[in-house]
Amino acid sequence: MLGERWAVKCKVHIRRTSHALACPEAHSIDAPRGGGIPRQDVSLWFGEEREAREAMESERSRSVDVSKSGHPDRTSYVTMGIKGVDSLLDGKGVPKGSSVLLLGAPGSGKTIFSLQFLQSGVAAGENGVYLSMDEDPERLLANAKQMGVDLAKPVKEGKIAIVDASPIRLLPAKIKLGGAEVGGHEFALSTMISSLVDAVKKVGATRLVIDPISTLIVHFSDEYTRRIAFLDLIAAANKTKCTTIFVDELNDAQLQRPHVFEEFLTQGVIVMSKILAGSTFTRVFSIEKMRGIAHDTQPHPYRITEHGIEVFSSEQIF
Ligand SMILES: Nc1ncnc2c1ncn2[C@@H]1O[C@H](COP(=O)(O)OP(=O)(O)O)[C@@H](O)[C@H]1O
Ligand SMILES: [Mg+2]
Repeated sequence: MLGERWAVKCKVHIRRTSHALACPEAHSIDAPRGGGIPRQDVSLWFGEEREAREAMESERSRSVDVSKSGHPDRTSYVTMGIKGVDSLLDGKGVPKGSSVLLLGAPGSGKTIFSLQFLQSGVAAGENGVYLSMDEDPERLLANAKQMGVDLAKPVKEGKIAIVDASPIRLLPAKIKLGGAEVGGHEFALSTMISSLVDAVKKVGATRLVIDPISTLIVHFSDEYTRRIAFLDLIAAANKTKCTTIFVDELNDAQLQRPHVFEEFLTQGVIVMSKILAGSTFTRVFSIEKMRGIAHDTQPHPYRITEHGIEVFSSEQIF
């Protein structure tokens, strides 16, 4: 499972809009890092007209349906398995099948948190998929091990799959397909989605992490296309029925968060930040939103130790 690279050599069917003015053409292409990669079918969308785009967004928003996004099961819960966190979630965890946005600055511990979530899943009989957008799997696992999260065994046993989606950063904005030019990032998104769906099937995963979505989303040139990209991603994650963590970068200095759209579409929002208390920084953990469970909304201090993340749920931030 380790280091399974997502496809960059694909058979591509092009549809001009979601409303299938379809002129399906099939091309084989070699993206920059081609070679040794499974052949897959990918559908691309690259509509131009504003009306088509708006219809598309509304269609996709409906298909994601905010009230039903994810497949939260109101009767069963998934413990997060991070010290101090489940007690903030009524002792139960998050509703099974939920999607949770995990926001934090670089270095706040989002990756280690997400890997602990997968590790505790294995202990509870739930397999997991981690889609790594930034780091290659070897380095990721080595860093995690240093922080007390050793995933070598579950990876070897096929209980956790690490999908390396880091080459996404290297794709050019445009890719030539026969005579046509298509958006490289739409291509990357489609490919990434099919890779994650394959990995979920392969390991029978019920937990999924995409870390971080910003690596993908920032490549889209405007707010509109970024939203479409996130809608596609969340719709794909919902389809897998996995309990999903979407990791996203948050700058501590940002007073106004630019994540309103993503926060609206996910059942849960967790923020890992830090505040300056006197002359020292304190790390602060808060569950800002979690549909389907009575939860503590207060900020609590947390630490990153050699045993991973520990949230001090009975301590307050003053
Ligand atoms: N052995 C360690 N003990 C304690 N903290 C560590 C250790 N190794 C790394 N860290 C902390 O963990 C942080 C990295 O965590 P990570 O999950 O990669 O953050 P993020 O994904 O939010 O960027 C580093 O900023 C560092 O503060
Ligand atoms: Mg990280």
